[in-house]
Amino acid sequence: MARHLHLPILEETGYVVLDSYQQPIDPAEWKNLEYVDWKSSGDTRFAPLASAYGQIECNGFWHQDPPKPDKDGIWIDSQTSTAPTLTERVKAVGCNVGRVRIIELQPNSYADALYNSHLDDNNRINPEGEGWVLRMFMQLTHNPDSVMILREDINDPSTETRISLPAGAQLVVDSERMWHSVWHQGDEPRYCLITSVESGPELEKWIWENSPKTRAESAFLDQGSAVAGEVLAQERRAARTAYYGYDPTTVMSEA
Ligand SMILES: [Fe+2]
Repeated sequence: MARHLHLPILEETGYVVLDSYQQPIDPAEWKNLEYVDWKSSGDTRFAPLASAYGQIECNGFWHQDPPKPDKDGIWIDSQTSTAPTLTERVKAVGCNVGRVRIIELQPNSYADALYNSHLDDNNRINPEGEGWVLRMFMQLTHNPDSVMILREDINDPSTETRISLPAGAQLVVDSERMWHSVWHQGDEPRYCLITSVESGPELEKWIWENSPKTRAESAFLDQGSAVAGEVLAQERRAARTAYYGYDPTTVMSEA
């Protein structure tokens, strides 16, 4: 842990919820982007705004030639020109960013979300002494009934926090430590801007400027639904583990 620079504010809970972004953004900025199919948790597509070398692709930076850590992302002109406000919003944070992508997620269930919960691979070949890479989530569509589900331990529901996702919701998550996925309710896809951000003074300053809260109140979920979803998800997770001979979600996801 201590081999990279970590932000103290993330230590306690592994996430921080920030002030909501209040400016309206034209949905054309995310709808008119070029999307690529990319394996992730659930039924998803991604539109990169920045990638390892400026191509429209979503592969991990460490798979590229030459490989690089999830930092120093190259902006993709054909995408950023479609999404200038989103691009400026990320640049305004002022920190080093790696992958910058819009995720499109189709509606799912609580059990689906738990089944898909995973850890990210944010710090592969990130040199010791440099900043720990986190994920910044900026919710685009207004989905107040949808939640990001965070767990310190995927097998312990008592470690769960459900953060509701109205338009503008912003949070930074140590997604290599915290199990995460989104339960999206509704008829339309959910869109969110996800950025790999490097821990350091710039990110820390931006976080402090946005009223950080290290403990969010969990969105309501009735006990019956919680238990039913947990049982179903754990059955499916166990079946997947049996099939592969290991739990693939513990091998950190590239999404
Ligand atoms: Fe993830």
